[in-house]
Amino acid sequence: MHRNALRRLLHARRLSVVTLAASALLATGGVALAQTAPAGTAAGGKVKVGFMLPYTGTYAALGTAIENGFRMYVQQQGGKLGGRDVEYFKVDDESDPAKAPENATKLIRRDQVDVVVGTVHSGVQMGIVKVAKENNTLLIIPNAGVDEATGPLCGPNIFRSSFSNWQPGYAMGHVLADRGMKKVVTLTWKYAAGEQSVKGFKEAFEAKGGKVVKELSLPFPNVEFQALITEVASLKPDAVFVFFAGGGAVKFVKDWQAAGLKDKIPLYGSGFLTDGTLDAQGAAAQGLETTLHYADGLSNARDKAFRLDYAKTYKLQPDVYAVQGYDAAQLLAAGANAVKGDMTRKPDIIKAMEAAKVDSPRGAFTLSKAHNPVQDFYLRKVDGRENKVSTVAVKALADPARGCRL
Ligand code: PHB
Repeated sequence: MHRNALRRLLHARRLSVVTLAASALLATGGVALAQTAPAGTAAGGKVKVGFMLPYTGTYAALGTAIENGFRMYVQQQGGKLGGRDVEYFKVDDESDPAKAPENATKLIRRDQVDVVVGTVHSGVQMGIVKVAKENNTLLIIPNAGVDEATGPLCGPNIFRSSFSNWQPGYAMGHVLADRGMKKVVTLTWKYAAGEQSVKGFKEAFEAKGGKVVKELSLPFPNVEFQALITEVASLKPDAVFVFFAGGGAVKFVKDWQAAGLKDKIPLYGSGFLTDGTLDAQGAAAQGLETTLHYADGLSNARDKAFRLDYAKTYKLQPDVYAVQGYDAAQLLAAGANAVKGDMTRKPDIIKAMEAAKVDSPRGAFTLSKAHNPVQDFYLRKVDGRENKVSTVAVKALADPARGCRL
């Protein structure tokens, strides 16, 4: 073995023993347990990937799609990243922010993963970011848009393969202002994803002369929409902008139609409203227009190959979440390949990831200085079981990364 590699191996082993002893000490209230270090991250071992995703609750399907996409990319590389086999660890985060620190700590301290891939829910993401920063663990966010992760809480080890909450909202703000809408009501779950989507929407919409006349919300993951739908109708806006996703989005779109508003008040949203949900929404979703960084019918070669392989592998049509999982793996591959799988070489991994041009099914993208994708936002329209691309609403949109000092 090369001398430097050997030194790194010994160093990494020593570190993992120290970490283990420290956590054992914590767990036993001060009495150290005799333990051997697990086969770890050092040169020669496997690349250890920890999925922290929702596998139950309203976002369960989103978590599974992310994992599917990630695994498919690795499979396409012969099951390896940086020339090493990949070993997976999994935690169900239940979209519960209160459990986030403990769940992230399990993956990092107990399983000693090289990278955490998680999560979907913005509130849970805040907990993961904190723990990843404390432990200097590589983190790839495959969905959650929480602006802080690539804003004031940005860090060298924090990457995102998805979007910031601000981005799709901002894109839709432009679209509605350009259509001459003046008076819009917003309706979301009351947590970061909804609130920050509305903020992005409002920023673009009001800069072009529109006005958000009322911001309505209900707690996550409640689906008792009736009273709020009635209130929207009484306000008679030009349009409504909403953020809902997963199981909640299915219910909302159906309730909206059942209330008789589908042909009365134009309903718009970030694309999560109709992504991965169309089979369940059926007729209620037809014609809905949304903005997102992915769409059906993009017809680039990368997307075509991705969709074929996904459908063959999982007997399912891919959605935006599968794309984000796939791209999280591509981003990690850029880092792992640069160091030939030696995951102890963090600065080199980070440098390679920062420089990556990700050949995504959504269209190729690069990362901003804050590690968030700079990407096109498409205007899409539901047609049958597809979110068909209409136009590019905003080209190469970069999150402003307010408060990030990197
Ligand atoms: C979020 O909580 O950031 C979130 C969840 C589901 C989505 C999009 C964003 O589809």
